[in-house]
Amino acid sequence: MSFTLRMPAQVYCGNDGQEKLLAFAAPYRKVCVFTDAAVARTLGAQKMLSALRDAGKELTVLDDLKPEPVCDDAQETVDVFRKSGAELIVAIGGGSVMDVAKLASISATDAITVRSLLENPLLGSKTVPTVMIPTTAGTGAEATPNSIVTVPEKQLKAGIVNPEMIADLVILDGDMTAELPMAVAASTGADALCHAIECYTSNKATPFSNLFALEALKLIFTHMETVCLQPDAKEAKNAMLLAAFYGGVAITASGTTAVHALSYPLGGRYHIPHGVANAIMLMPVMRFNAPACLPVFAAVLNAVDPAPELSDIAKAERLLNRMQEMLAKLGIPSSLAPYGVTAADLDALVEAGMAVTRLLNNNPRPVTAADARRMYASVL
Ligand SMILES: NC(=O)c1ccc[n+]([C@@H]2O[C@H](COP(=O)([O-])OP(=O)(O)OC[C@H]3O[C@@H](n4cnc5c(N)ncnc54)[C@H](O)[C@@H]3O)[C@@H](O)[C@H]2O)c1
Ligand SMILES: [Zn+2]
Repeated sequence: MSFTLRMPAQVYCGNDGQEKLLAFAAPYRKVCVFTDAAVARTLGAQKMLSALRDAGKELTVLDDLKPEPVCDDAQETVDVFRKSGAELIVAIGGGSVMDVAKLASISATDAITVRSLLENPLLGSKTVPTVMIPTTAGTGAEATPNSIVTVPEKQLKAGIVNPEMIADLVILDGDMTAELPMAVAASTGADALCHAIECYTSNKATPFSNLFALEALKLIFTHMETVCLQPDAKEAKNAMLLAAFYGGVAITASGTTAVHALSYPLGGRYHIPHGVANAIMLMPVMRFNAPACLPVFAAVLNAVDPAPELSDIAKAERLLNRMQEMLAKLGIPSSLAPYGVTAADLDALVEAGMAVTRLLNNNPRPVTAADARRMYASVL
């Protein structure tokens, strides 16, 4: 077996992120900041922007990026970025913002468009260095070579994967998530949980991905409720940012599985936010996978809440129950009904979900169309 670990060149974790940003930005004069309207209003984003302004940087601030980007909207942003002539990209936001900034970093000429990258992700190479400052904890997009966009005519989300999109600097500063609304903290935290448990159980798991995935799981089981229920808990916020980053590293070294595969059409067709869609599919997929994952689930319970007296079956059951209870306690939706999905949608959902073979192939238990149908039907 052989395996590779790809990671951002530098990762800072702490609450002096603005100083780290300035030190990195020192050689560059023109800086383009990617963000969105809600994030731009936060004190965390203001702290980063003021630091850049006070240092005399020539700033272009793109602050109207939309959540869950559509490929053509991403293209418009990339076009504005290109005209700015910026020498450094700073992304301040959740996965939606970081994904567009990453595309900009490999789109040096107008010959490279987002749609051309969808056809051939390796077409672009990095011409502008990137700093990723996540404000959700989260997608782990700051760690990955992936960018995910919606392709409207296919009603699907698609991943563009190119190692050149891995960040040069990541700043994990808990102040950036200080004003995250509880519902977003919960659903994005659930996404991090999915990344960690999917990568740990993935057919593509490696010793590198297992290291990061298990550490992410320990941090998430310890801190997720606290960050959602006690918004002032600073240490827990830093810990969840670290967990989300570890989840992103695990994705890069391994790969997500049927949770993400079956959730892609929920984002593409019904515009259910990424974290929510994954949280809804998490328990059906984990319970489906359990027969193929007993020792692996037992190993996770040993790490997060040891119960040596239990058998592997009982450990797996306890782990899955704990996950389900945590999602319920944080008020994360567990049904597709509020999003208008009904039994009449099942055929289309199954067809679209089964087409995400890149991720289904990683699932530890083979998924047939009938299995996918049962899993979707269980959350209607
Ligand atoms: N590239 C990757 O590796 C990867 C991995 C997983 C998901 N994704 C993608 O990331 C996107 C989802 O990103 P996300 O879950 O981080 O959410 P998001 O970036 O869409 O943000 C969700 C909402 O929260 C707001 N918000 C974000 N941070 C805030 C803060 N600190 N304070 C107040 N409001 C804040 C945003 O304005 C937005 O309205 C999806 O498009 C998904 O497909 C990418
Ligand atoms: Zn995800």
